[in-house]
Amino acid sequence: MSAGALNQARCLGAVMDESTDLRCVAVCHASKCRRRGAEALAVQLDKEIIAHGLEGTVATRRGRCNGLCNRGPTMAVRPEGCVYARLNAEAIPRIVREHLAGGRPVHALIPNGKDSTPSEKKAKKQLKAARKAEKHARKAAKKAKKRLAAELMERVT
Ligand code: FES
Repeated sequence: MSAGALNQARCLGAVMDESTDLRCVAVCHASKCRRRGAEALAVQLDKEIIAHGLEGTVATRRGRCNGLCNRGPTMAVRPEGCVYARLNAEAIPRIVREHLAGGRPVHALIPNGKDSTPSEKKAKKQLKAARKAEKHARKAAKKAKKRLAAELMERVT
């Protein structure tokens, strides 16, 4: 099971537990996410948390890589373990409103392991084409071998 699928499975039924009143949100600050604007999103997240009056129940920090580098910027919400990907300025208020304040993870922003980035799709397509070409080459070699064997048999007889 891929990291994305595992993440989605963990979060699908996750609803904020009334007894769990503390959350930790870690915005990935590893190199790829930083290059894609993670710092600005972390600042925006802090502002949204204050605007929603959640500063006593939600702690934020600059976190480590969440393993979804090609889908960054990412952030993890604990204790649920949800990892949000492809974050942008529109996603942050939605996550704060729906998940951190409302208790319902925003599934549309949690990768499910099925959605591929364009480069992943291209790599899969190339791999499929390479396998098909290899199969075709094996068949052609087998045919050529049979034909050669038949020609040799004709010359011998
Ligand atoms: S660099 Fe951010 S998830 Fe890996």
